Amino acid sequence: MSARTTDNPITAVGPHLVRTVEEAAIACASTIGKGDRHHSDQVAVSAMRRVLDSVPVRGQVVIGEGERDKAPMLWSGEQFGCGGEGAPGLDIAVDPLEGTNLCATGAPGAIAVLAGSERGGLLTAPDVYMEKIMVGPASRDLLGDAIRLEHSPERNVRAIAEAEACETSEITVVVLERPRHRELIAGLRRAGARVRLIGDGDLSAGILSAMPGSGIQAAMGSGGAPEGVIAAAALRCLGGGMLGQLLVRNEAEERRLRETGVEDAARVLTTTELAPGRNLIFCAAGVTDGPLVAGVGLHQGQTETHTLQITNDPPELTRITRRRSG
Ligand code: FBP
Repeated sequence: MSARTTDNPITAVGPHLVRTVEEAAIACASTIGKGDRHHSDQVAVSAMRRVLDSVPVRGQVVIGEGERDKAPMLWSGEQFGCGGEGAPGLDIAVDPLEGTNLCATGAPGAIAVLAGSERGGLLTAPDVYMEKIMVGPASRDLLGDAIRLEHSPERNVRAIAEAEACETSEITVVVLERPRHRELIAGLRRAGARVRLIGDGDLSAGILSAMPGSGIQAAMGSGGAPEGVIAAAALRCLGGGMLGQLLVRNEAEERRLRETGVEDAARVLTTTELAPGRNLIFCAAGVTDGPLVAGVGLHQGQTETHTLQITNDPPELTRITRRRSG
């Protein structure tokens, strides 16, 4: 990817956003393997919230920890930042700890993550489920055409194989290991694809499908809608794509969707509808080691963080390793 300079105000606040996820990851690190996922999540939220007020923007959380009355910090709609009148507006979707179980059990793949854009550049999705298909650049143009949520897994994976110019046996699809995915997994296996089952973390899985050399060509199945929006922002930057459909299980969820302005929940959303921003940024710091980014390390009294920053303007993927004392 090119390394040209930019006057894009969203990319310009990148270092602040990188620090935001780094601090959340460091806070979580002391809770790894302690078996208390809620505590791990809480420390990530507090750490992220502390840093956000020093970001020179007029910021707004569009996807956070839920509604204001249930979330003391990082609630959807919360304002942040120290920017005055002329400062850029920044919307963020945050997942302070993606993979709370992974962190609590010391398993690979927990990350502190956020996506940002100019105002209105990220869909405000409540915490409901979303049916997803996430793919890399080779298959992106087939989304909504040869690849559809309503198609069988066999049909979709054959289309992906054709786009990747390989056999279905060479396609690896990541799926969350859940009883609800039994049919999906069986269909993918019938088509001859390799299914990689994961315990948690479909956000990372989706992004990996658009990262060269990851060995993953797609991620499929239902997971969190917030994770879907954050993945869409990263996928747009990387040239990949996705389809997402919000899943409504009961009246309460239907009401929440209406309150957030979603009129037609059944509609299949494209990458651009999920993350329509002109200027997008994605930052993820590893908590535990994982395929997307390494976790927080402790070396000779120093704390080492590993962060991935992806932007669309300029189209750049940057890996940042930082060491600090203590
Ligand atoms: P948390 O970090 O909030 O626990 O989310 C982990 C995760 O695996 C997500 O990656 C995924 O989208 C979602 O949970 C799936 O939800 P469920 O565990 O209910 O199937």
